[in-house]
Amino acid sequence: MHSSSNKTQIWSNLEEHCNEISKKSLIELFNENQKRGSDFSIPFGELWIDISKQTIDSKTIQLLSDLAEENKINQFFIDMMTGSPVNLTEKKPALHTALRAPKDSKILVEGENVMPKIAETLEKMEKFSSYLRSGKLLGSTGAPITSVVALGIGGSNLGPVMAHKALSKFAHPEITIEFCSSIDSVDLDQTLNRLNPETTIFLVTSKSFNTRETLLLMENAKKWLEESIVTSGLSKHLVGITSARDKAIKYGLEESMIFDLPDWVGGRFSLPSAAGLALMVSIGPDEFSNLLSGMNKIDNKTVSEPFESNGALLLALTDIWNRSFLDHPTMAIIPYSSQMSYFPPYLQQLMMESLGKTHQNDGHGFSSSIGSVIWGATGTESQHAFFQFLHQGSDVVPCEMLGFSNSYKNLHQEQQDSLFANLLAQSEVLAFGSDTEEVPIPEKKLEGNRPSTVILAPELTPFILGQLISLYEHRTVASGVIWGVNPFDQWGVELGKSIANDIELAMINSRPSVDNSKRNSSSEKLLEKFKNFRNS
Ligand code: F6P
Repeated sequence: MHSSSNKTQIWSNLEEHCNEISKKSLIELFNENQKRGSDFSIPFGELWIDISKQTIDSKTIQLLSDLAEENKINQFFIDMMTGSPVNLTEKKPALHTALRAPKDSKILVEGENVMPKIAETLEKMEKFSSYLRSGKLLGSTGAPITSVVALGIGGSNLGPVMAHKALSKFAHPEITIEFCSSIDSVDLDQTLNRLNPETTIFLVTSKSFNTRETLLLMENAKKWLEESIVTSGLSKHLVGITSARDKAIKYGLEESMIFDLPDWVGGRFSLPSAAGLALMVSIGPDEFSNLLSGMNKIDNKTVSEPFESNGALLLALTDIWNRSFLDHPTMAIIPYSSQMSYFPPYLQQLMMESLGKTHQNDGHGFSSSIGSVIWGATGTESQHAFFQFLHQGSDVVPCEMLGFSNSYKNLHQEQQDSLFANLLAQSEVLAFGSDTEEVPIPEKKLEGNRPSTVILAPELTPFILGQLISLYEHRTVASGVIWGVNPFDQWGVELGKSIANDIELAMINSRPSVDNSKRNSSSEKLLEKFKNFRNS
């Protein structure tokens, strides 16, 4: 931990080293060491991670490994994976790794083994998915269910929708899966217009069963069912996925149609839990199990590999290096795969909700910047949108490019090759720029020296996606631990939610208890204007 009051010697050594190495360009670093490409790349599971185009050398790696050791990161992962209450502010374990651990593992929380309950939920998910996928799950009129609408927001949406899209090639061809998260009515209306209520089921995912957006969507979905054919047996069309079973029952969900989410899994880490039910329906229990195996493989490697060959740790430390020492405030994630278009928004929640914090666990403020702005979009489209800024803009944006060698079933392999050619070209140009002598006008000159990481995998399969998800989860957690913040809470989002509720209640009911005219001059004016527009 490195607040102004407790900066360690290792942190100071890194600052000093940063002053030295920032004087060198990536071209110089590559000239100094002709083997950088292999010296700064590692295999991690089925993934190949290349950080050779980051502003680092072997001393950086040594110092960063000292930093990891100083923060007892390995012990943290052991504690996390064995059920210690590592989520300090909420006094809970963060046991997402248990959800993909082998069934015969024993993981105790307050003396109770959590594995039997995990296995029970997984079995219930498998039965439900297999039933639905084989046309045996019937709606209230006796018609088989063929459409699934997943309602939920944040962690109850971003992971499942990302993985569903990423694995669309593995999806059941006759089952429609839709996701709705926005409170904007157009989203749900347009989805429902495409569907038949007789054959539609809603999966309502909310850990708290208290999230305004999700509850509103559920109420509208219920109305749609009631107004159409479903006069009785509504519960056959509604599934709840939650830690708050009682609340779900109060909202009219049938007990047997509720899947439990453990209290100790954070929303953004919940894909391998029942929150992944829509994905399991889409790709089937076997492929879902491959996803879990991929995650488990990287969990085991993260906790056992030494620093030099530990991909999650190397990436975490590269992030810390770029943010806290080289002072790059953002990082762009560029997957060269259109299936991975939801990966950047998924990572925005994972990394920014986990690391967008300034209070250290010991209560001190931070002297250096922590947590990056995560953004991005798929290559090659983004090359034609924002890459100009990445190559010549006044801010340096470290990039992370993800590539896959094989196309699905080897179809259109030439396009897959072309995607990789583009990925490689962009990371080369970012690092090395253009040769000055060949450039006739200054505007055409590319300075280069813009860092990037490349993560390469054989193919986008459930097993590989599982590895990628686990890699990013552990990298995020490791960064949080070293920065001294709790990666598992999200207190910063709570106040806005309660104020929105207050304003909404006051607008609907004109309740005197919440007087909108006493908010502040900006809100007052905006509310007045909103009402004028609404009534015009
Ligand atoms: O607004 C943030 C958040 O609390 C996320 O952490 C969470 O994933 C999301 O809301 C949805 O919460 P829930 O699953 O309880 O509806």
